[in-house]
Amino acid sequence: MLIRAGHLVAAPTETVYGLAADATDSDAVAAIYAAKGRPSFNPLIVHVTDSAMAQTIGVFSPMALKLAEAFWPGPLTMVVPLRVDGRISPLVTAGLSTIALRVPAHPVMQALIRESGRPLAAPSANASGGISPTRAEHVMASLGHRIRMVLDAGPTSEGIESTIVAMGEGVVRLLRPGPVTADQITDLTGLPVVTGGEGDPIEAPGQLASHYAPKKPLRLNATQAQRDEFLIGFGDMPCTINLSMDGNLTEAATNLFAALHQADASAARAIAIATIPETGIGLAINDRLRRAAV
Ligand code: TXA
Ligand code: MG
Repeated sequence: MLIRAGHLVAAPTETVYGLAADATDSDAVAAIYAAKGRPSFNPLIVHVTDSAMAQTIGVFSPMALKLAEAFWPGPLTMVVPLRVDGRISPLVTAGLSTIALRVPAHPVMQALIRESGRPLAAPSANASGGISPTRAEHVMASLGHRIRMVLDAGPTSEGIESTIVAMGEGVVRLLRPGPVTADQITDLTGLPVVTGGEGDPIEAPGQLASHYAPKKPLRLNATQAQRDEFLIGFGDMPCTINLSMDGNLTEAATNLFAALHQADASAARAIAIATIPETGIGLAINDRLRRAAV
């Protein structure tokens, strides 16, 4: 199959479509960076079928395991120390001694890992810095000419990339907000959740200030459209398209990237988006919007 032969396959997860390759094959992993135009210092997430497989690659403390078992399969990525016998290409971790691991809930990505028998390195399947794909058409538009196969399973259910955490001293460090919220993590572990690392730049190398960016200028906290603007609304308001008419944040997250793709492809000169409440998954939406607007 394509993965075993070292090729790239784009496949859906419950968050966004990923660009998958065998994480143990350095040539295949190098091809991911090349296809995305991604800087090689920005490490990749490795996808596995379950926590038993994860533990053959990374070292899990009891608390890390508790988190993993509660939220896997699902939109949580755990950054843990890399096992020396983990057989992962050093290109995946960009030379770090830690590795980002996740068990996706989507049956197609699960089947791809199982059938290939390999841990799969998979970043979001978009050109580096662009908007993440939530539909196969987004992948085709961004990377279609560079990959052999896209497995199309329709729109993704979560719509926004996984939450990334690492264990700290008596705290959980949130490296990227996502569908699993800080409150859910604290409820489970009893530990406070702190954002960012200890000023350590390698902790979230992908969290660059400008990311997830449309090609057009993006204006935040808009209440109405200015001339030639594509207005993305939230809640009942006049707009070009609405993320959620009844102000549902989960629905808004699911629709966010498709709305940005649509706005980017439209005839409008610029994009504007309504204020999104800073609660629950709204934190993750605003994290992406702030980077998209830089
Ligand atoms: O929902 C998702 O997580 C999607 C789907 C495809 O699984 N994947 C995704 O991958 O968003 P990507 O490559 O676009 O984002 C991975 C993030 C980057 O910000 C990267 O810097 C961070 O994970 N990362 C990877 N390994 C890391 C490590 N060892 N330490 C800290 N951050 C790490
Ligand atoms: Mg990405």
